[in-house]
Amino acid sequence: MAPRQQTKNPPVETAEEKTGAAAGERGETLTITDNRTGETYEVEVTDGTVRAMDLRQIKVSDDDFGLMAYDPAFTNTASCRSAITFIDGEAGVLEHRGYSIEQLCEHATYLEVAYLLIFGELPTKAQLQRWVHDVTHHTFVHEDIKKFLDGFRYDAHPMGILLASVGALSTFYPDAKQIDDPEERYMAAIRLIAKMPTLAAFAYRHNMGLPYVYPDNELGYPGNFLSMMFNMNEAKYEPDPRLERALDILFILHADHEQNCSTNAVRGVGSSQVDPYSAVAAGVAALYGPLHGGANEAVLRMLRRIETPENIPDFLEGVKNREERLMGFGHRVYKNYDPRARIITTHVEEVLEATEDNNLVDIATELEKRALDDDYFTSRKLYPNVDFYSGIIYEALGIPTGMFTVIFAIPRTSGWVAQWMELNDDPEQKIARPRQVYTGERERDYLPMDKREGPEKIVGPPARRPKRPRRGA
Ligand code: CMC
Repeated sequence: MAPRQQTKNPPVETAEEKTGAAAGERGETLTITDNRTGETYEVEVTDGTVRAMDLRQIKVSDDDFGLMAYDPAFTNTASCRSAITFIDGEAGVLEHRGYSIEQLCEHATYLEVAYLLIFGELPTKAQLQRWVHDVTHHTFVHEDIKKFLDGFRYDAHPMGILLASVGALSTFYPDAKQIDDPEERYMAAIRLIAKMPTLAAFAYRHNMGLPYVYPDNELGYPGNFLSMMFNMNEAKYEPDPRLERALDILFILHADHEQNCSTNAVRGVGSSQVDPYSAVAAGVAALYGPLHGGANEAVLRMLRRIETPENIPDFLEGVKNREERLMGFGHRVYKNYDPRARIITTHVEEVLEATEDNNLVDIATELEKRALDDDYFTSRKLYPNVDFYSGIIYEALGIPTGMFTVIFAIPRTSGWVAQWMELNDDPEQKIARPRQVYTGERERDYLPMDKREGPEKIVGPPARRPKRPRRGA
C-alpha cells in the first residue's frame, strides 16, 4: 500500500546557520570569560540557545577534556528542533502545528489531530477519509496476541500488559525495522494508532476475566474503544454520543506535549534506529510512572483517601510539610493553569450529566480552590495540570483506576509517532548518548580477598516486609 503523504522535513539549517555564522552576523553572540584562565570566548546564540559543543573549546590546559554543560533532568537543555507542538508555559498556551488546543478541541476529531501531528497539515476531506479508513481497518490484532495476553496473571496491571504487548508488535511486523522506507513508516503509524485501543481494551478484559471484544469497524475511534471495553454480549454496542465526544476530547488533549518524559524516551530509544514499535514501548514504560502518565491514577487514589472536603486542610498541611505531593498539580513547563485542565473542567459536568453523580468532583473542586488560595502553591506557580480532572471523567465513564494511564497511552501514540518520524528526518540527530560527571574512585589496585576490610554487616536485600494481600484477592 502506498503512503498517502510523507512526513514533512523540518527546516534544514544551512551550514552557515549551523556554525552560527548567520546568527553571528546578526550580532547574536555570547561572550564567556573563563575566570580559571582569564581567556575569553565568543559563542553563537541561535534561537535563544548556545550549542553545548561550543563549550568544549573552553579548557584550562591542552589535555583538558573541555567544558561540558551539567543538566540533570534536562531542565534547561533543548534536545532537538521540533515543528510539532508549541508550549508557552508562562502564558498557558498549547498549539499543535500552530493550531491552538482550544480550537482543535472545538472543531476537530482525535484522528484529524493525529493526522495533523504526523503530517504537519490538517487533512483535506479525501485525506481524512483515507486516514480514518486505514486506521479503522487495522484495529484487529493477530490472534497470537491473545495467547500472549493469556500468559499474564489475572491481576497484572494493564499498563504492564500494554507495555509488553506493544513491544511484542515489533515481532509481528519485522519489516518495520526499515525505518527509512516511507511505506513501512506509514504502516507502522497506522498500526500503532489503530491497535493501541485494542491492546488497551484487551488488557482490561483480561484483568476482569471477560472475553475479548473484537473491534467494530462501524464505530468511530472512541466509540469502538468503549465497545471493546464495555460490550457485554450485545449484538451491537451503541455508545452514548456525549461520552464518545468527551473521550475524543480527552484523546485530543493527550495527543502530544512536546519533549515530555515519554516522548524523550521514544526519541532516545528511537535514536538507536530501532523499529518504531520498540521505541513506542519505551514511551509506554516512561508514561507508566506516577510523576508522568501515572499521575491521573494517583489523583484518584488521593481524592479517595481524602474522602470528604472536611479533610482537605489536614491533607494540604501534609503536602506543605513535604509528607506527600498534591498529585495533579504542578508541571515542569506550565507555570500557569494547564490549558488542557481548563478544557477538561468544561467537560466534567457534561460527562457527569450522562453518568451517575461522582462525589470526588466536590472534593477535587474544593481542593483546587483551597490550593489556589494558598501561598505555598501560588508562590511556586503550582496549578492544576491535565491529570487533575481527567481521572474523574474516566471514573465517571466506568473505567477502573488501573486503566487511566493506559487510556493516556492511546492518544499519546500519535504524538510519539510524529516525534519519532521527525527524529528520523532530522539530519542533526545522532544516537542519544549523554555525558556524565564521574564521581567514583579511580585507578585502584585490585585487593585480594584477605586484605579487604569493611563493616561486618553483610550487604543483602532488606528484611522481608509482611506480605500485602494481592489486588483483587
Ligand atoms: N505538590 C507539592 N509540591 C510540589 C508539587 C506538588 N504536586 N509539584 C512541585 N512541588 C514543589 C516542589 O516540592 C518544589 O518546592 P521547593 O522549591 O520548595 O523544593 C517546587 O514545587 C518545584 O518543584 P519541582 O519538583 O522542582 O518541579 P519539577 O518541574 O521537577 O516537577 C512535576 C514537575 C510534574 C513532576 C511535579 O510538579 C509533580 O510531581 N507533580 C505531581 C505529579 C503530577 O501531577 N504529574 C503530572 C504532570 S502533567 C502530565 C504529564 O504531562 O505527564
